[in-house]
Amino acid sequence: AQKVIFDTDPGQDDAVAILTALASPEALDVLGIVTVAGNIPLDLTTTNALKLVELAGRTEVPIHSGCEKPFGRSLVTAEHVHGVSGLDGPDLPAPQVPPRSQHGVDFLVETIRAHAPGSIRLLCLGPLTNVALAIAKAPDIAGRLQDIVLMGGGSFEGGNITPTAEFNIYVDPEAASAVFRSGAAITVLPLDVTHFMRSTRERIAAFAGLGNRAGEAVAAMLTFSERFDVEKYGWEGAPLHDPCVTAYVLAPQIFKGRSVNVEVETSSALCRGMTVVDYWGVTDRPKNAVWVRSGDADAFFALLTERIGRLP
Ligand code: BDR
Ligand code: CA
Repeated sequence: AQKVIFDTDPGQDDAVAILTALASPEALDVLGIVTVAGNIPLDLTTTNALKLVELAGRTEVPIHSGCEKPFGRSLVTAEHVHGVSGLDGPDLPAPQVPPRSQHGVDFLVETIRAHAPGSIRLLCLGPLTNVALAIAKAPDIAGRLQDIVLMGGGSFEGGNITPTAEFNIYVDPEAASAVFRSGAAITVLPLDVTHFMRSTRERIAAFAGLGNRAGEAVAAMLTFSERFDVEKYGWEGAPLHDPCVTAYVLAPQIFKGRSVNVEVETSSALCRGMTVVDYWGVTDRPKNAVWVRSGDADAFFALLTERIGRLP
């Protein structure tokens, strides 16, 4: 199985991404889950990650807390989207197993160095604070990873927290910029694709109809996320962002993208956190990422539903 580490701020959509991976042990060996402050403060993202491994019956997967805020900025959160717990919707029991004591950033560095070069994929679902700090401390890990697959940014679809910025990149633009410049192989699942992966009533009903605890929890999470996004966008169903990362790793053929240069705006107040994507190759800036632009939503939801159906 492919070795992966999650860096995440769960979040209902992070939760579905993580559960999908935990349901796929033949394909993915989840070495650990590192939490970061983002959708909600760090103590809650850590609690939520612990609840998820318990829901999946996978408490052997270690949870490590990372950074509680960006280095150069105050933390921006998104309770208006995810609820005060960050995981509003299902009624999940308080976790029984505590997080590990090692700091998440040290876990990243140590784990990536302990495995063969090119053998780990780092799956990033939140602000890139931990990842940037790990690379700053240990620049060799950028080249030791197989790649980084991240949800963040937008180009054709614009932004979701400001007209030009997507939340994960907006929260810590300096971190994102450092990651894009690190030399790591990077694939980005931006709003350009996630906006088209929408949790319609029918798709939510399919999770609810699985008849297991995880399916019921996922349906409750997506029903909760809908209430905000459906009103905001006027679409049938809400975009499901972070699970695109797991789906991309499990079934890359569902998606289409191309190699581009991506730079992150850090100095402008108006465009803070904007991902400037040279999709048409109008500059000679080096290509530093694969930018995914489209995907097959039916295949995506079919994959997620089948995987969630395997859980307790
Ligand atoms: C991203 O921001 C968070 O609210 C979601 O979990 C996702 O990672 C979407 O912009
Ligand atoms: Ca997230």
